[in-house]
Amino acid sequence: MSAAPSPTKRIAVIPGDGVGKEVIAEAVRVLKAATAVSGRALELTELDWGADRFLRDGTTLPEGGEQMLRDKFDAVLLGAMGDPRVPSNKHAADILLGLRFKLDLYVNARPVELLDAKLTPLRDRTPRDVNFMVFRENTEGLYVGVGGIFKKGTHDEIALQEDVNTRKGVERIIRHAFEYARHNKLTRVCMSDKSNALNFAHDLWQRVFADIRKEYAEIESRHLYIDALAMEVVRDPSQFQVIVTCNLFGDIISDLGAQLAGGMGMAPSGNIHPGKISIFEPVHGSAPNIAGKNLANPIASVLAAAMMLEHIGWPQEAASLRGAVRASVAAHQTTHDVGGHLGTREAGQWMADWVTKSGITHT
Ligand SMILES: NC(=O)c1ccc[n+]([C@@H]2O[C@H](COP(=O)([O-])OP(=O)(O)OC[C@H]3O[C@@H](n4cnc5c(N)ncnc54)[C@H](O)[C@@H]3O)[C@@H](O)[C@H]2O)c1
Repeated sequence: MSAAPSPTKRIAVIPGDGVGKEVIAEAVRVLKAATAVSGRALELTELDWGADRFLRDGTTLPEGGEQMLRDKFDAVLLGAMGDPRVPSNKHAADILLGLRFKLDLYVNARPVELLDAKLTPLRDRTPRDVNFMVFRENTEGLYVGVGGIFKKGTHDEIALQEDVNTRKGVERIIRHAFEYARHNKLTRVCMSDKSNALNFAHDLWQRVFADIRKEYAEIESRHLYIDALAMEVVRDPSQFQVIVTCNLFGDIISDLGAQLAGGMGMAPSGNIHPGKISIFEPVHGSAPNIAGKNLANPIASVLAAAMMLEHIGWPQEAASLRGAVRASVAAHQTTHDVGGHLGTREAGQWMADWVTKSGITHT
């Protein structure tokens, strides 16, 4: 008797703005190649949320959009938001931050993985030295938009931006980092904050960290202030396996990490609520300076799609996408930013062809 076919997975694809449209088209091309080979059904539905729609009819995140995603889809693959024609960035804030908050996507997972020594600006470093995961708290901190401006535009102007940290929020992201380490048989977790200066907000991080680390005695856990962490990540990245930190510091340290692994064109991310609908996207933005020129590197988006496949429980297809990325880097069949000579479309096609030729190993 043959096994029952696995159910169709439904993916919302939001290309967004600028290079988002170009790189997501290539990620979709590689995804389709993988499912064509594996024979599993992936239903992709494109949503036009982004600057064009906003400029056309004023819509940012459509009314009930987040509930529609919950009801109809298993995951979301997103490109980037940001367009010079919308200087306020309103649509991007409503869609990106709106979805992160409304879907309660409290984990921002940003893996930093050097695939080839030639891609790092660090001297004498190899893939073995640069391989860690950054978990950024994704629903609180300085990004909640609580604050205000008083006497705007005058010499007496006051601007306040509140840093919101809840025990629940801090606890769940720190616990997630330890659980990820345990699940993946990793032995080191580093929590980073600025508790020497932010003596209320990050005092909470200190106390929660002290409590939770006791439950993971087999894991070597340490704390570094964020300034020390930035220095150490550059000096010796090999000491890190899992880093967990607040929203703002995670944003910055993961961009630093992206650069150590070849730049923005190589860095994927997931906005995750474990067990619930989650959003996967490249770390980079809409890159207006190269948009529409077939120059953007699609690898970050292909790796984001691989993270998405893992999240929906398709590890073989995920491995296939990762294999295609590794092979393209090894064969120099990449875009210019990482030393190749291909355009966005050609790099995507090369990876899709690799997937088709290599097949998928079912375990
Ligand atoms: N998650 C998101 O959607 C997101 C993230 C960051 C920035 N943004 C938005 O994107 C717009 C541009 O922001 P920015 O210029 O600060 O950041 P960016 O990430 O768009 O670009 C930074 C630099 O990286 C390069 N780059 C980005 N993606 C690349 C790729 N795939 N291949 C090769 N090079 C790539 C760009 O050319 C640029 O030099 C802004 O509107 C910003 O708000 C959106």
